[in-house]
Order: sequence, then C-alpha cells, then structure tokens
Amino acid sequence: MVVNQMWGKLYMVVNQSGLRRDEVFVTTKVWNSDQGYHNTIQACEKSLRRLGLMYVDLYLIHWPVQGMGDETWKAMTKILQEDKAKAIGVSNYAIDDIEDLLRASNGVIVPAVDQVEFDPFLYRKELLQFCKENEIQLETYSPLTRAKRLAHGTVVKIAKKYGKSPAQILIRWGLQHNLVVIPKSTHPDRIMENSQVFDFQLQQDDVQSLDSLNENLQTVFLN
Ligand SMILES: NC(=O)c1ccc[n+]([C@@H]2O[C@H](COP(=O)([O-])OP(=O)(O)OC[C@H]3O[C@@H](n4cnc5c(N)ncnc54)[C@H](OP(=O)(O)O)[C@@H]3O)[C@@H](O)[C@H]2O)c1
Repeated sequence: MVVNQMWGKLYMVVNQSGLRRDEVFVTTKVWNSDQGYHNTIQACEKSLRRLGLMYVDLYLIHWPVQGMGDETWKAMTKILQEDKAKAIGVSNYAIDDIEDLLRASNGVIVPAVDQVEFDPFLYRKELLQFCKENEIQLETYSPLTRAKRLAHGTVVKIAKKYGKSPAQILIRWGLQHNLVVIPKSTHPDRIMENSQVFDFQLQQDDVQSLDSLNENLQTVFLN
C-alpha cells in the first residue's frame, strides 16, 4: 500500500486499517519555498508532526531550485542519518540536476529515487538509462497521463488483447521498465483495478509499440 502525501494524523488511519506501520509506505516532499538547510530540517519535522509519524519511508526534494540544492541535500542527508526518513531522493530532477547534486555531495549519498512524470507518451529514455547507471530508482508520477491518453487507440487495442484496462496496460508498461509506479484514483474499484497488474506480462512487441508513442506529453508541469 502506498500513501503519498496524506495530510492529517496518518497513524490513526493506519491503526484503524489494522495495517502495521511497516506495511504502509509513506512519501512526502520538501516544498520549493522550504528549501535550504534549516528550512528543510524544519519542514521535515513539521511534516512528521502533521502526519503523526516518527519517520517517513521516503523524503524527496520536490523540485530542483537554483542555488539551493547543495544546502537542501545536506539537510536531507542529516534527516536520513537521524532516521527521520528511511530513504531520501529527488523529484522533477533532470540528468543535469542530478549530476550537479552528485558533484556537490561528492557522490557520498546518492538519491535513492527520482520521482518524475513518465509514461509511454513521455518516454524519457535517457533519464531512465542515467538512473539505472547510477542506481537511482525512477518513480513515475501521473503514470496514467492523468487520464488524458487512456482512450488512445494503441493502448485500447493492447488492453483488449490482454483482457485488461488501458490503465492497467500503462501501469504494466512502467513496471516492465523497472519503474516504481504511483497511479492515483479517488474510486476504490479503480484503486483495486490499478493494483491488479501482477498476473500478466506484456510481450516485447507490445512494450515496443507503447515505447513508440512518445510525444513529450507533460500533463503536470509545462516547462
Ligand atoms: N512529484 C510531483 O511533482 C508530482 C506531480 C504530480 C503528481 N504527483 C503524484 O503522482 C500520483 C498520481 O498522479 P496523478 O494523480 O497526477 O495522475 P494519474 O495517476 O496519472 O491519473 C489520475 C487520474 O486518472 C484517473 N484514473 C485512475 N485510475 C483509473 C482507472 N483505472 N481508469 C480510469 N481512470 C483512472 C483518476 O480519476 P478518478 O480519481 O476519478 O478515478 C484521475 O483523474 C499522485 O500520488 C500525486 O501526488 C507527483
């Protein structure tokens, strides 16, 4: 179960669900205006208080803010060392941004994760390769294109072939590219549907058909 950025006393939700803390993976991020050494430490503590948790599983820098990265990353490593986050990483970082971070920190603590928008319509092959070479796990947000391409002919055709939904095909494509995939839905039946992606495998030619759909579609942040 992945709970991403849930505000409020999360531990109550966990307790009521009957799940143990270690069965829930909690990610949150330091926001752009909270970057810098002291602000990042404070932002993390504030998040932990609001969540009612001792630690988060993954703490990310939301965005590469010019001139702030080094100090923010220093704070992130302190947060890691103090066990307030089990892992630290970045979000919306391009290759250049990660290279800057690695240079500044002498590659001592490499981000565990880069969370970026990534799907067949925004197939960022070079970033995927770079992360693989540097042992950074790529995590894809908005993996369902925020529903903007679920009716695309190729996706629908492949979905019919496997008896799956277009959403399941996009998630499965991400998994077969070794991505961590975090789809979101407000509907319990869709949340369930989106989790049922481990009982089939896309054939290589279907993966390649999906790979060929890249159109640099950005549904979240337009650069
Ligand atoms: N790091 C960042 O900067 C960043 C930026 C954006 C998002 N995120 C994170 O990424 C996660 C997901 O991204 P997202 O919500 O932007 O996009 P998404 O998961 O690609 O798409 C969500 C949309 O798809 C619909 N949907 C979900 N499952 C479906 C299904 N099985 N069939 C049909 N439609 C379905 C949802 O509608 P219903 O709710 O009506 O089902 C919603 O409109 C979130 O946890 C978010 O916090 C991170």
